[in-house]
Amino acid sequence: MNAASETAYKRITVSPIAGSLGAEIGGVDCTKPLDDEVFAEVHHAWLENIVIYFRNQDMNPEKQIAFAKQWGDVHLHAFNRPVDGYPEITQIRKTPDMPRVSGNAWHTDQHYRDKPAKMTILFCYECPEYGGDTQFANLYDAYNGLSDGMKRDIASLFGVANGDSRKHQSGYTRAEREAAGFGTIKQMKPLAVNTIASHPLVRTHPETKRKALYIGKHMECIEGWTEEESYPLLQFLLRHATKPDYIGRIRWKPGTLTIWDNRCALHYATDDYPGQYRRLHKIMVQGDKPF
Ligand code: SIN
Repeated sequence: MNAASETAYKRITVSPIAGSLGAEIGGVDCTKPLDDEVFAEVHHAWLENIVIYFRNQDMNPEKQIAFAKQWGDVHLHAFNRPVDGYPEITQIRKTPDMPRVSGNAWHTDQHYRDKPAKMTILFCYECPEYGGDTQFANLYDAYNGLSDGMKRDIASLFGVANGDSRKHQSGYTRAEREAAGFGTIKQMKPLAVNTIASHPLVRTHPETKRKALYIGKHMECIEGWTEEESYPLLQFLLRHATKPDYIGRIRWKPGTLTIWDNRCALHYATDDYPGQYRRLHKIMVQGDKPF
């Protein structure tokens, strides 16, 4: 559950948008370096609310990179082609003629890397007047919502996440998708890094110490189980984790900057704006090895 109301903030305003997660932050100019006190409050609000956003930010690529670097090292995407001149940034761009929306399945960013991204920073340049929201699911709540028996049974399981599985990407590998002209993000020859990784199904958040269910579309099987054996459990957990009770959604406007915590949230790009245009810039921040 969203715990924002438990904290008194002095330098920023924090307005929760749902019972599950998400808050609008006021009083912060993210295009300038945050002073220590503001940074500490924003950091706290992010940990408490999982997804936070700032309206009316006069952002550009340099400023977005500078903002990201206040949170840690930039995590480079293993497959997505960066924006020319900015290796840190990938562009999510959907034109009216494109048939599908990338990110239109529940996932956590870079799940398939040994050290997945902890934070994603997404800035909106253009979006439909309505539609094209990003939905988020609270994975602490998902874990807490399981029975004690299920918690016990999955406590020692690891899941194997694959970054380029045909099965979990509408039947296409990334290269096939690029060749066919599908998708809102340009693909490239992958970086020379592991893109298949095994992680605990239940992870402990390194900062809050809370337990979260760590699942998503990239997870193909339980380590040591066949895919056939794994499928029913993974399907159940994903369906459970994305119950409406655990969801909040961000409505974009040009100038909105959203940051979320991939260690305890899934996200889903909503495909409900056919024939319209949407363009955002994404930067990720390096995380730790899940435990
Ligand atoms: C993503 O999956 O990272 C992008 C989400 C979105 O485009 O709404």
